[in-house]
Amino acid sequence: MTPSIAALPIDPPARLLMGPGPISADPRVLRAMSARLVGQFDPWMTDAMSETQALYRDVFQTANDATLLIDGTSRAGIEAALVSLIEPGDRVLVPVFGRFGHLLREIAERCGADVHVVEREWGTVFTASEIEAAIRETTPKILAIVHGDTSTTLAQPLDELGAICERHGVILYTDVTASLGGNTFRTDAWGVDVATAGLQKCLGGPSGSSPITISDRARALIEARTSIEAGIRADGEETQERRIRSNYFDLAQILEYWGPRRLNHHTEATTMLYGARECARLLVEEGIDAAVARHALHGSAMAAGLTAMGLELYGDRSVRMNNVVGVVVPDGIPADGARTAMLDDFAIEIGTSFGPLHGKVWRIGTMGYNARKDAVLTTLAALENVLARGGFALTAGAGVAGALEVYAA
Ligand SMILES: Cc1ncc(COP(=O)(O)O)c(C=O)c1O
Repeated sequence: MTPSIAALPIDPPARLLMGPGPISADPRVLRAMSARLVGQFDPWMTDAMSETQALYRDVFQTANDATLLIDGTSRAGIEAALVSLIEPGDRVLVPVFGRFGHLLREIAERCGADVHVVEREWGTVFTASEIEAAIRETTPKILAIVHGDTSTTLAQPLDELGAICERHGVILYTDVTASLGGNTFRTDAWGVDVATAGLQKCLGGPSGSSPITISDRARALIEARTSIEAGIRADGEETQERRIRSNYFDLAQILEYWGPRRLNHHTEATTMLYGARECARLLVEEGIDAAVARHALHGSAMAAGLTAMGLELYGDRSVRMNNVVGVVVPDGIPADGARTAMLDDFAIEIGTSFGPLHGKVWRIGTMGYNARKDAVLTTLAALENVLARGGFALTAGAGVAGALEVYAA
């Protein structure tokens, strides 16, 4: 007899998630997320919110007071940033070098921006001077750019963009969902105005909370549009003509919620806050630079192992993200069939790719909790077996040996 659904507990299979994210969450984060709930305005809870803000200032490497969490996946952070910064008709420049650049364009268009796009072929990134030339030509109010575009596994260098934006009076927004914690990123030193992230990559958590940091000058633009909703507004506060076009993602109201006024906006996603706090605590405990170095080590070992197996890596290697690598699917090997064999026979998930790269490139991650030697070696050994069975000519043991050489060095 088939048991009724009500009798079945959630019992997911054990998997090693070695794709481009989500990755297997750190058990410490999962434990934190099973802690009991308290009311959202309980003094313990408001203290936990303030602690989380302080931890994320370290993670983002910023002194920005406006550093907090947006409830929702990384895309929620992106939407909150863009809908709160953009007023309909504002010019926004989006350099696109992968799928997530297209997402920024899409969201900016929906916010009513006059969007200008410059594109690079996937597998490459922009030079700072190309971006400055595009800024000169389009004179945008906002430059919106992805840092690590998971779709191509490349990281756009951002360190010069803050100074360029400052020279041209442009607000710099960046999506660091896939890069934060595993690749060097410095909000203040690089002059970034707004950055948004997610937990499910190098931060070692599940998706569902989006950390954000906002500079004082970006905050001033957002707060100039403050419009507190009826029913909770104080006497004398009225609906503003220029109010932000989303209620849920209205950063002006969300800042009032996280600030001393503790304005009642949404109901806090308490369990996600516990998880996000633990993700940041893990990173701060390890040290941000040490966490980046760990991702660089295990990412290099994975890349070396794949190369030693005779596989070709995708994209400009000089700007590869530490935490995910693109692998060209060898001729004669079915891209999706091999991924299925990895999952069915070894319980290891590796990633497919989007758009023009689908079926041509796999993406293999080494991030967060899975930026570990055993995870790297197990994945390489399993992939070697799958490729050998598929008829790919390789030297037995070469992949694991290639990675071990990196560890030995
Ligand atoms: C660079 C980047 N931006 C945005 C997103 C969207 O994140 P989410 O699916 O958490 O909304 C992803 C997800 O993979 C990503 O890699």
